[in-house]
Amino acid sequence: MAKGLRPLDPDRAEQAKSALVTLSRQTPELFKTHAKDPTSEALPLIWENWDDFLKKNEATVRAAQAVDTKTLGGLQQSLIQLGATCLDCHEKYRKIKN
Ligand code: HEC
Repeated sequence: MAKGLRPLDPDRAEQAKSALVTLSRQTPELFKTHAKDPTSEALPLIWENWDDFLKKNEATVRAAQAVDTKTLGGLQQSLIQLGATCLDCHEKYRKIKN
């Protein structure tokens, strides 16, 4: 939808937004336990900077809540802003920086 490949459907966009908000709120819970899986891309720095990790996650939750599902231009712009918050955390706390 955001790519303009299909028409903006505000109901579906609203559903996807809601899922993003719910899932991003759950992120800290998923990281409470220190990762031991050798394939994990989570950097140990997460548990040394837990408060900062929470702060970065909060920025993602807020950006997800702010996703504009009303117009194509608004949707594209707000998804760019959301993506920047994902990257902000990945750059510091994930082995793969994207
Ligand atoms: C607060 C930090 C943080 C935020 C915010 C965050 N991520 Fe991540 N993300 C991680 C970490 C850490 C990993 C690595 C997890 C692992 O491999 O155990 C990860 C992994 C991923 C993966 C790979 C999952 C897998 O199964 O390998 C995807 C996809 C992803 N993030 C997408 C996103 C998107 C999209 C957003 C924004 C809407 C986002 N992330 C926001 C920290 C974050």
